[in-house]
Formats: sequence, C-alpha cells, structure tokens
Amino acid sequence: DRQKNIRNFSIIAHIDHGKSTLADRLIEKTGMLTEREMDSQVLDSMALEKERGITIKLKAVRLVHERDGEEYILNLIDTPGHVDFNYEVSRSLAACEGALLVVDSTQGVEAQTLANVYLAMDQDLEMVPVINKIDLPSARVDEVKKEIEDIVALDTEHAPLISAKNGVGIDDVLDAIIDEIPAPTGDANAPLKALIFDSIYDSYRGVVCYVRIFDGKVKAGDRIKMWATEKEFEVVEVGVNANGSIPLKELSAGDVGYITASIKNVKEARVGDTIYDPANPPKEALPGYKKVVPMVYSGIYPAEGESYTDVRDALEKLQVNDAALVFDAETSVALGFGFRCGFLGLLHMEIIQERLEREFDLDIITTAPSVIYRVHTVDGKMEEIQNPSNLPDPTAIEYMEEPFVRAEIMSPTDYVGTIMELCQERRGRYISMDYLEETRVVITYELPLNEVIYDFFDALKSKTRGYASYDYELIGYEQGDLVKMDILINGELVDAFSLIVHKEKAYERGRKICERLTGVIPRHQFAVPIQAAIGSKIIARETIRAVRKDVLAKCYGGDISRKRKLLEKQKEGKKRMRSIGNVEVPQEAFLAVLKYD
Ligand code: GTP
Repeated sequence: DRQKNIRNFSIIAHIDHGKSTLADRLIEKTGMLTEREMDSQVLDSMALEKERGITIKLKAVRLVHERDGEEYILNLIDTPGHVDFNYEVSRSLAACEGALLVVDSTQGVEAQTLANVYLAMDQDLEMVPVINKIDLPSARVDEVKKEIEDIVALDTEHAPLISAKNGVGIDDVLDAIIDEIPAPTGDANAPLKALIFDSIYDSYRGVVCYVRIFDGKVKAGDRIKMWATEKEFEVVEVGVNANGSIPLKELSAGDVGYITASIKNVKEARVGDTIYDPANPPKEALPGYKKVVPMVYSGIYPAEGESYTDVRDALEKLQVNDAALVFDAETSVALGFGFRCGFLGLLHMEIIQERLEREFDLDIITTAPSVIYRVHTVDGKMEEIQNPSNLPDPTAIEYMEEPFVRAEIMSPTDYVGTIMELCQERRGRYISMDYLEETRVVITYELPLNEVIYDFFDALKSKTRGYASYDYELIGYEQGDLVKMDILINGELVDAFSLIVHKEKAYERGRKICERLTGVIPRHQFAVPIQAAIGSKIIARETIRAVRKDVLAKCYGGDISRKRKLLEKQKEGKKRMRSIGNVEVPQEAFLAVLKYD
C-alpha cells in the first residue's frame, strides 16, 4: 500500500513565528522525487516546464525523505496567514492529516496560534508542537511548553526544540512528521473524489487546481466534473509541485498534487469544491464547500486622466485568478464612472488596490470601505446595501441591521484597561475575560464589523506596543440606530464620502472627519467650507482658508534644477487627485473619513 509512506501536513503559526523559515529548511533537507519516479514516472514535458520558467507559487510542495531505507513522501501544504482568508486556511487543512504547530519560544502562544489551532481541531488534525527560535537568549522554552500544554492542551514532552534559522533540530521535525502524523487511508479503487484546496490562474495552462485525492485515481485524458459549479472538463495534465511542476502519469488516493484541464477562470474551480468522475458520481461531496462572500465593499474609481475601460480590464484580469473578488459598475456623482468591489476583508482590499497600481500601472481612487447593511423598509422588504449612497430615503426605512463580529484579543494583563477602553469606544460589548496564565488574558468582545474594519488593528497594536494580537469571526446581524452622514465640500454633497454611522457617534465623527479633511485637502485660491450633515441638518463645519499657491516663490535665485524638481514634485502631488466642483481632492481624503483619531 503506497499510502502508508505518505504524510500530508501544514505548518500553522502566528505571524513571524517562523513558518516560512521552517518550510525552507525542510525543503533543503529533503529531495523532490522518489527513485522510482526518477526512473519512470516523470513525463518528458518536465524539461519544457522548466524552459518556460513558470514561477509556481508554492501552494503545496512535495518533499521526499528517506529514513532507515524507506522513502516517505511528505506533502507540505501552505496556508495563508491572515483572518481574511480563514476559509482558505480551513480548506488547506482539510487536505491534511496533521499540522506542525510552530510556536516562537520568545513569544509563546498568540491569537493566531489559537485561531489556527481551532481550525485544525475542526478538521481532526493531529497536531505536533514545534518550539522555534531556541537560539535566542530570550527563549523561554519551559514556560512556552507549559503555555502550550495549558492553553492548547497538547503534550509537549517530545516537541522538537528547533532553530529554524540555524537549521537546528530539523531532523527531529522530520521524525515527528513521520511518526506522529497518520498516513492517509483512502480507497484507490473507489470512484474519484478530490478536494480543491487552492486554484491559481496560469496564462499557459489555464487554471491549475491544487488537489488532495481522497479516493480513486485521476490521469490525463479523464473526464472530471466539479460538484458545486457542475462544470465538466477533460484533464490535460496531473502532477506534483516540487521544484516547479512535475507532470506524473497519475495521482491516486492519498496524493496531493495538481490537475490542469483547460479551465479558463478560477470561478469554475473553486476552493473547497469536490472533483469527481461524471461517469461515477459519488453520493455526496466532500464536506465543507462554502461559497465565499465578500464582507467589505469599496468603490474603485479611475483617478484624473485614467481611463475607465483600463480599470475594468484590469479588474477582469484580476478576477480570473481571484475567485473572491467581485465587482460591478457604479456611478458616483462626484467621481463619475467606477466600480463597487467586494473583498473578503481589508487585507484583501489592499492587495487588490496594490495590484491595480503595480501590475497594471493604474492610478485609482479607492473610497472608504463599507460593510453590508440590511435595510428593512416600511413596506416590509429587506435590502442589502453595500454603498451608503444607495440608502433609501430615511422616511422609507423601518430599521437597519449591521454585521457583528466576535473578537478574541490576546494580551499581557498590563493592557487590559487600554483594550477595554478601545473596544468600548468602538461600540463593543464585553463578553468575557479568561486568564491563560498569571500575566496573559484573552478578552472577548462582540463588535460591529463597521467599527473593526478600518483601523482597529492598528489602534490595538499601537496602544499595546505590539503586544496584543487578535482574531475575529462574523456572528450575524443586529439592529442598530444607524444614520447616513453626508459630507459637503464647498457646498456640494460628495456622495463618495457618505457613510453610515451610529447615531450616538454622529456628531463626534462628523467633527473629526471635517477636521481631518481640512488637513488633507490642499488650500485653494478661495476658502473651502467642509460640512458634515445628517439629512438637511449640518452637524459640523470647518473651513480651509484660501492661499495664493506660488511654489516657485520659494526658490529665490535662479537654480533651475531646483525649480524643476519643485515643479515635478507638485505634479506628482497632483496624481491621484479628483476635482470635485472646483476643489482638488487627493486620494487620502477618501480613506481619511473612516480613521478615528
Ligand atoms: P509570515 O510569513 O510573516 O507569517 O511569518 P513566518 O511565520 O513565516 O515567519 P518567518 O519564517 O518569515 O520568520 C519570521 C522572522 O523570524 C524572520 O526574520 C526569521 O529570520 C526569524 N526566524 C525564524 N526562525 C528563527 C529561529 O529559529 N531563530 C531566530 N533567531 N530567528 C528566526
């Protein structure tokens, strides 16, 4: 039985605890192919793949390790490390039988360590604790071991003590993988059942599906079908990722590898979906498929001088390899034609924004992110609103609901007061406080997502000098006393600035936003009033004083190169501006509205 020498595992860790460094060491210490494969299995196109120089993101890498004359195939499956991508993490873990839990011995257990442990427990994974960074003088190996036992309830007696950086203890990790993580136990003769745990778009091969085969076999030429999308394809190639893609003759039960099948869009090969043989459909799919739904929406508009179609083309291209990105055309009175885009969370939003700018060289304006509100109207209907400016007339609204999250914040006890203050300020509801040990607690709050999405994480980090970590999950919708606040610039309502706020917070927020906009909108040759309003009622007002802007006046004398530099600088400052009426508004202004202090 070839499965008995296969181990499928992930590495889970809090950010910076050494996951990537350990992965690198494991790759260095092991081979890529078994001897048998070296001789026969590998198909000729391998050389071709190499020539094309396709860079493959290591979604899963296969390691071959020999111990006592036996060859083991160790499939290391990568997991994204951020709460925005928790669904992807859980699908990657579903492809494994076990996980290495890497804990930094100078830091101990942190919020994302715990969050990942829970995800791994949900999948019944065998967890192997690994204590890292023992080379550092501040390592507290015994304390951290005790922490893992107390908090995570894992036995640490045999936990490898390692320095991933210096390559110390790596053999112990390999032994632990082989000895403690169970081998897969699928049925290679049963009909095909494979889990897609990731998919990426590659311009040569179309979508590459990363799969874990649970039952059966699959090879080039086979017909396959996707359970959720009901799309059928013919397999072009199967293989594994070692140093680049290595095509194999077939993949069978227990294997982790990739399948290509001329699939044009990652939407047709969604993470979590089950691949099966259409001639032999299974009774049910593998568990856990979930359609991913965006949690955060924002407007993306071309900056001055940038074309709408270029932005649309770029978004379409990004969507081909990012099934979680959604977008629709929208128009803003202030910004013209643009798009409303949905993201998994703020990190996802920032990634897309950055890719538009870097990979497509586009200047864009992003409006403040918003959550989805449920608006119940007097005629008994419910509407989901992603854009505050689409809110129905206040008289038509019966009540509104907003999404809530449960946040678990882990911190040294010194910061409990500060954290509670921060959560309270963000309309948080205290749930509990649990001592993990004498000096560390987990504080649980329920908070409106709206209050968390923008700069909660930054605020938490800065108020606790980086010591607190947090994780959150969506728990549902709750009724709230919410109103729409508009911002007027030079007397003109700017729809892209409209936001939904809690009534109690409206005055304070209005004042802060006006102050903030006064700071980021440059002075003009006339005075510019900035106002916040609820309906027709002005609740705050500031004025940007007029100035005669003459940058060259600063350069006395005739240093021409300095003058040119200044002019260029001014030009650059102009980028990513939008004129609203006759006022120039920079990109920062659109995000400034959601910042607190
Ligand atoms: P993300 O990819 O950001 O989630 O972090 P990660 O968990 O993959 O951590 P990564 O491997 O990037 O390591 C984080 C930092 O810790 C890097 O600067 C590493 O060089 C350092 N590091 C990792 N292992 C060790 C170790 O054993 N000893 C010491 N001293 N530093 C280490």
